Amino acid sequence: MSPRIRKAVFPVAGLGTRFLPATKTVPKEMLPIIDRPLIQYAVDEAIEAGCDTLVFVTNRYKHAVADYFDKAYELEQKLERSGKTEQLELVRNVLPEGVRAVFVTQAEALGLGHAVLCAKAVIGDEPFAVLLPDDLIWNRGPGALKQMADAAEATGASMIAVQDVPREQTASYGIVATEAFAGRQGRIRAIVEKPQPDVAPSNLAVVGRYVLNPRIFSLLESTKPGAGGEIQLTDAIAALLAEESVNAYRFQGTRFDCGTHIGLIEATIRYALDHEKLSDSARQLMQNALSELGVEELG
Ligand code: G1P
Repeated sequence: MSPRIRKAVFPVAGLGTRFLPATKTVPKEMLPIIDRPLIQYAVDEAIEAGCDTLVFVTNRYKHAVADYFDKAYELEQKLERSGKTEQLELVRNVLPEGVRAVFVTQAEALGLGHAVLCAKAVIGDEPFAVLLPDDLIWNRGPGALKQMADAAEATGASMIAVQDVPREQTASYGIVATEAFAGRQGRIRAIVEKPQPDVAPSNLAVVGRYVLNPRIFSLLESTKPGAGGEIQLTDAIAALLAEESVNAYRFQGTRFDCGTHIGLIEATIRYALDHEKLSDSARQLMQNALSELGVEELG
């Protein structure tokens, strides 16, 4: 048994250049799927997993993320006075009671590993989660991080979410080689950041959910720039492997890569089709759009 994770790190200092010009003023983590920004989905997943301290690693230009999690007194008062209780609950539940947000600045964009290292002072000496909000994971049952936190609590091993990707895409991901899986977990033998398909040790890719032992911080401190000239979390995990077991975890759920245009579209379609109020009209308008374009009807 290992202590339950209580703290989650959200690296949100990236520039979001793929979504320019929108991301000139709106951080990519604030792009919405239906009516909630991407960051909210990741935050809800962390809270569901048992986290009560959320550490946002941000940069000095990203006020929108901090503003979003700040209490909106005037708005709340207005909604309360006009009896809009449903909307009031939505606004209040952005950060439920008992959950605190901590903001840490990453002064320079030196990579994901460096971003996680910036959270060291807040995390201290306990296992913690890292969630990359670009990776949106949809599941009808428990969220991906809750699945992993339960497994990590039982084994004490660090845990990294993985999924199979087409081999031609390995250069977009951290890739792991594992021992045989027992259920959803397989011990990682090797991990490498963004290998070309011909040298990738497998096509099992790292997805942006991690449960890490705090030992990772001292390893990050001595991690040199790697792929893309950045300090990579993957390289520190490779060093951790030499000391203790780290498990790959095949989560239950569908992952959308909302760091790409098509991934954001796919996620929007999926959430609309699954939405309690919007699903019928979403389905209808998709059928209309396809038939207007001369494409066969949806089944
Ligand atoms: C990061 C990690 C990579 C992981 C990916 C998942 O890469 O460095 O190992 O596979 O997230 O989304 P990025 O997409 O930030 O380049």
